[in-house]
Amino acid sequence: AMMRVRVPATMANIGPGFDCMGMALNLYNELEVEELESGLIIENIGRDSEGLPTDETHLVVRSMQRVFEAVGRKPGGIHLRVTTAIPVSRGLGSSAACIVGGLVAANELIRGNLNRQELLELAVELEGHPDNVAPALLGGIVVSAGEAGDTSYIRFPVPAELQTLTAIPNIELSTSAARQALPKEVPYADAVHNVGRAALLVAALMQENYTVVEKALDDRLHQPYRSRLLPSLDHIYQQSRTKGLKALIISGAGPTLAYLLMPQTRDSQQIFLDLLAETPEEWEVLTLSGDN
Ligand code: HSE
Repeated sequence: AMMRVRVPATMANIGPGFDCMGMALNLYNELEVEELESGLIIENIGRDSEGLPTDETHLVVRSMQRVFEAVGRKPGGIHLRVTTAIPVSRGLGSSAACIVGGLVAANELIRGNLNRQELLELAVELEGHPDNVAPALLGGIVVSAGEAGDTSYIRFPVPAELQTLTAIPNIELSTSAARQALPKEVPYADAVHNVGRAALLVAALMQENYTVVEKALDDRLHQPYRSRLLPSLDHIYQQSRTKGLKALIISGAGPTLAYLLMPQTRDSQQIFLDLLAETPEEWEVLTLSGDN
């Protein structure tokens, strides 16, 4: 029988929490794995799966190999089936899902006994930053920080009243391009602005106190730079400010946008949908809840 692992999509940053906050969503990739005597068989099924490799360069396999290396043991061969629902290069953590799925599956397959913290460190090493892999591994909202090999985190559930109206455009944006768009330095005032907002956001979400969430979402470290990368994002971003639509964020590195639905913002969601319709892009809009 094949062993199954299900990994959620993740929304990193959540506005001001650049590289340190992320939320798991109820959209999943699934891996099925079994040990073979020898060889490597990979089946890629589902969304955006056409371009995925069918050899050892597959990110899931590279992540599995990282576990075999860490544990010092490996199976004879592997049969892997990857069923994807998370769109690729859209800012919803598809690479984090492959990494975490591969690590967890490999650990189960060889009974590696790596614990959560050890799996998290391997995931951070492979991904480069913790904000997608941590919630992909742990579920919920995860706040994380640290150095290589020493990641600290606090996890708490996504409040039931919080959902995201997630708008996925039919264009891709690589994380590296979206990171290159960021400045080398920022004004001190902008850094202070974000520290306050990020701290406020975490406290508000933990207490499920929505009164300050819209104010807390205001980011000056990445979204103003990234929105300029695509005319449609720029238009929506500028217009949302003019119209006072504050619950709008770029999901991860983009280009997916998310409007956070909570008691205060539900009535304004049509304004967001209307802004999407003003652009030439095609947007797939999903109402997603947290994965806890
Ligand atoms: N924090 C990362 C970024 C998440 O915004 O670049 C995307 O991988």
